[in-house]
Amino acid sequence: MLLFVSVICDAYTPSGEAIPTNNRAAAARIFSEERVVDEEPWFGIEQEYTLLQKNVKWPLGWPVNGYPGPQGPYYCGVGADKAWGRDIVNAHYKACLYSGIKISGVNGEVMPGQWEFQVGPVVGIAAGDQIWAARYILERITEMADVVLSFDPKPILGDWNGAGAHTNYSTKSMRADGGYEVIKKAIDKMRARHKVHIAAYGKGNERRLTGKHETADINTFSWGVANRGASIRVGRDTEREGKGYLEDRRPASNMDPYVVTSLIAETTILFDPTK
Ligand SMILES: *[C@@H]1O[C@H](CO)[C@@H](O)[C@H](O)[C@H]1NC(C)=O
Repeated sequence: MLLFVSVICDAYTPSGEAIPTNNRAAAARIFSEERVVDEEPWFGIEQEYTLLQKNVKWPLGWPVNGYPGPQGPYYCGVGADKAWGRDIVNAHYKACLYSGIKISGVNGEVMPGQWEFQVGPVVGIAAGDQIWAARYILERITEMADVVLSFDPKPILGDWNGAGAHTNYSTKSMRADGGYEVIKKAIDKMRARHKVHIAAYGKGNERRLTGKHETADINTFSWGVANRGASIRVGRDTEREGKGYLEDRRPASNMDPYVVTSLIAETTILFDPTK
């Protein structure tokens, strides 16, 4: 029997300082602040990614030196002319379930060769842990399949969707009666720190956040109910029930989930715009 044990570790120098790439340490500090712990922050993350043919680094299913038919039939598509890589996607889904990751779904994306998996809801620092673990498992499975995994936020320039990591978020007060008011206050705080968030939301995101292809322009903060073209989307259910969650649509697929989740918690729970 072959037994794999995977453990997530964060790394420190011999003197006990977090090494520069260890973003978990700072995130864990924010998530252990009493006010943050009391709010039980939940995250649901949609991780998009693109599968590439190994030698040409061109999306799976695309003709080499050419393009497939325009976007439209591929999102959640089925069939050999619409979906490429489903074996990988399904193997990853099962491996995540066996690993105890709270994977909640998978789907084919708008750009052919692009897929998404969803993790959540997960509380606090565990969201970052689970996304990193799920990414690692996906790397291992694509490696076996001889396919290259890309988290680039805009793998193909032109009229093709980019890849994001939409982050759903709620606190205890947002989920309780009257939560819609708390959500709107949180959105105001996020507006005030738009630049700080954008800077932390992944490299190359300016190629993706163009205002086209279901994105908001990188320089303009906006929010809306059921609006896929806004920085922050609030669902119809949340509006109707007067409580629920918000969806931050800005993070790029290559974002660090420790950075993104802890920054959202910091801005919405700890940040005081009057100071
Ligand atoms: C995030 O929220 C959207 C609606 O705003 C929903 O369709 C999606 O399933 C949610 N995903 C996760 C991972 O929570």
